[in-house]
Amino acid sequence: MQRTHTCGELTTAQLGQTVVLSGWVHKSRDLGGMTFIDVRDRYGITQLVFDADADETLRNNARDLGREYVIKVTGTVIERENKNLKIPTGEIEIKVSVLEVLNPSKLPPFTIEDDTDGGDDLRMKYRYLDLRRNPVRNNLILRHRLAQEVRRYLDGESFLEVETPVLIKSTPEGARDFVVPSRMNPGEFYALPQSPQTFKQLLMVSGFDRYFQVVKCFRDEDLRADRQPEFTQIDCEMAFVDQEDILHTFEGLVTHLFKTVKGIDLGAIPRMPYADAMRLYGSDKPDIRFDMPFVELNSVLQGAGFPVFDQAELVVGIRATGCASYTRKQLDELTDFVRRPQIGASGLVYLRYNADGTLKSSVDKFFGPEQLQQWAAAFDAAPGDLLLVMAGATDKVRKQLCELRLEIASQLGLRSKTTFAPLWVVDFPLLEWDEESGRYHAMHHPFTSPKATDIPLLESDPGQVRANAYDLVINGVEVGGGSIRIHQRELQSRMFDLLGFSPAEAQKQFGFLMDAFTYGAPPHGGIAFGFDRLVSIFAGLDSIRDVIAFPKNNAGRDVMIESPASISQEQLNELAIALK
Ligand code: AMO
Repeated sequence: MQRTHTCGELTTAQLGQTVVLSGWVHKSRDLGGMTFIDVRDRYGITQLVFDADADETLRNNARDLGREYVIKVTGTVIERENKNLKIPTGEIEIKVSVLEVLNPSKLPPFTIEDDTDGGDDLRMKYRYLDLRRNPVRNNLILRHRLAQEVRRYLDGESFLEVETPVLIKSTPEGARDFVVPSRMNPGEFYALPQSPQTFKQLLMVSGFDRYFQVVKCFRDEDLRADRQPEFTQIDCEMAFVDQEDILHTFEGLVTHLFKTVKGIDLGAIPRMPYADAMRLYGSDKPDIRFDMPFVELNSVLQGAGFPVFDQAELVVGIRATGCASYTRKQLDELTDFVRRPQIGASGLVYLRYNADGTLKSSVDKFFGPEQLQQWAAAFDAAPGDLLLVMAGATDKVRKQLCELRLEIASQLGLRSKTTFAPLWVVDFPLLEWDEESGRYHAMHHPFTSPKATDIPLLESDPGQVRANAYDLVINGVEVGGGSIRIHQRELQSRMFDLLGFSPAEAQKQFGFLMDAFTYGAPPHGGIAFGFDRLVSIFAGLDSIRDVIAFPKNNAGRDVMIESPASISQEQLNELAIALK
């Protein structure tokens, strides 16, 4: 028998019992004739003791054990003299009679502790050792629990889990595809799915009614903390629904997850139209853990002769409550922050509402006391507040002020990882104009349906058409997105037309879907959640890497298995690929 118990379960309830434990040597201590070994497995740590009663060889063998050796011991559960009440097994220890080394271990390149001495690169190279550490393993246990609760909820709502193919076809919309050469069809390529979008829609045509899948998706895009080239979606689709049905069903899912996994009652999730999100927070994924909305100031601040304001399309600011006491240095740092190339603002203007009621701005030259009063009034400011203002082209300045708003909130400690502020952002535009290619792009994807009331605008003013599309945002992170779909061939084909596809191209790329729409496609819609992002929010982490067992680094590499890698000439020949 390899073990009778795990390393996390023995307590005083088993005193006197003979047990067998197996696990890894976590730590060992030699104290004048006594050797203590902590043996560890997934479930916990148990202390082993080799005392003066043990025979010489056994004690020598115990002393020779190195960190991370895999051992098996037989012994008796006894009460500990020095109890450790912080761990469940802390009141007992095992007096060992038989010790067997199942496998020795080289000294690991970093310590297997909650706070390890290993840097990122080293831990990625030896990810299997990193995964022995509690914080990393706990993230994956959390991921598992969430996946189980997702399945439990969706199963209860009559969703069927259906697998869709991974070798599919490259399409021009969205991010870049990862492609896979086909040996049997020289010169032809599969693509890995960016999402199962078209397949889930076909399942609705097939009458599956409610579909879901916890599914890997692949996107060849630039990587960030919340993006991996392969990531997991909770992908869902429903037939015979409108937007309200979908928001209701998936609000139910999110509420269920918070309740069962975190014990948190979320309450109703607020909704905000896209236009308001942009106007008030400068982002389609506002962090509403705190308020600090934008105040537009063109009517208050333009015309005073300050060129930066007078020439701007938008003058807009935020009120940092209680920050009037910021020092000159702190204000300079904020200005440097918005001037960083990633943000790209030309500068920052401030007005302090001092605690004594006086007003002092960085542009006093242009604004008299009365104007400063109006300025403060526009923000509803109170003594102690700091008003920060930026000016420029609307879209740009909103983005810049959004960054500043988040920075100030971080400095003020308003972005706690244990507060959860979900938000539905609704009424997204259907299309966005792309200057570079000189054409419209689908804001969500080309299968998203316009709002019925806005369909006439498709001909006159396509940029103004709103979509039946929605995102779920939690704490400023886009956790999910979806839409009601087009289910009629004519409208879908009009959409491709607007997106610059010729009828022949549209037929070649998406003919299968448009054909399917002619065989009785029900009205349908859905959503996909970024599962990695959801788990990282539950875990209070900034990066999704920490909730993925074997993630890739920012260069898209797996440094453990050393991938991507070149392949042999023979393989290339077989695939009919000639490298330049
Ligand atoms: P979308 O492209 O918005 O929608 O993706 C859905 C969600 O997936 C997550 N996500 C990512 N997570 C990690 N790494 C990435 N590279 C990455 N890209 C996206 C986000 C996002 O909200 N088929 C549609 C859904 C639908 O319409 O039903 C889709 O894929 O959290």
